[in-house]
Amino acid sequence: MRVVFLGPPGAGKGTQARILQERFGLEQISTGDILRRHLAMGTPLGKQAESYMQRGQLVPDDLVIDMIEHELERAPDGFVMDGFPRTVAQAEALDELLARRGTPLDAAVSFSADRAALVERLASRWTNPRNGRTYNALTNPPKVAGIDDEDGGELIQREDDRAETVAKRLDVYERQTWPLIEYYRKVGKLVQVDALASVASVSETIAAAIGDEAGSC
Ligand code: AP5
Repeated sequence: MRVVFLGPPGAGKGTQARILQERFGLEQISTGDILRRHLAMGTPLGKQAESYMQRGQLVPDDLVIDMIEHELERAPDGFVMDGFPRTVAQAEALDELLARRGTPLDAAVSFSADRAALVERLASRWTNPRNGRTYNALTNPPKVAGIDDEDGGELIQREDDRAETVAKRLDVYERQTWPLIEYYRKVGKLVQVDALASVASVSETIAAAIGDEAGSC
């Protein structure tokens, strides 16, 4: 099963990708998490990506497409991509990479939510920088504030979750990623979910739409 998640910042793509990974054993490929790891390690890719990410802009297509080509090698049995593709050029490149492997995409899940709710979610998000797991101070707080329940390490607030950067990321989504909804609708692969429903309800909707195929992968 090969699935991509489309949706604005804070829509819950990472949350749901982790649930799909656990439930169906799909490899989670989160371009945001991978890029943040490159930044933390100071790799050449991390250095090139840094200024774009800090400003809430997209990292150039060629860099991200090269990265995804490499990531696909570790997901021969299926994946859920959380944060890729984000432009039409990225979607076309993914189609080409998958066509070369003879493993076409099964579904593109689009998360929708209004801006005000997303801004509030991101302002109250706490992230484990070691593995990308998230909490929310309002709806899903950790047992001890600032500490991950599972590994006991520190939680952080992402730099790009500052209000002014969030506003830019939302604008970038509307301008550059929104057209992908039509791209996938045209080929009959689009699944739409209401991202403002509860975490459990969103994951049930996704599982109902793609579950049968995922269960057999
Ligand atoms: P990335 O890390 O991918 O950020 P994003 O797409 O902006 O998405 P987020 O991680 O902010 O949100 P999410 O939808 O995963 O929500 P989450 O599950 O955490 O990208 C960061 C940057 O990297 C980009 O700006 C860009 O510079 C670069 N980049 C990445 N990919 C790229 C690409 N392909 N091309 C070019 N550049 C790229 O949930 C949010 C909060 O809400 C959490 O607190 C969570 O607990 C809570 N929550 C989740 N679901 C629910 C629910 N149903 N109800 C209540 N609360 C919920």
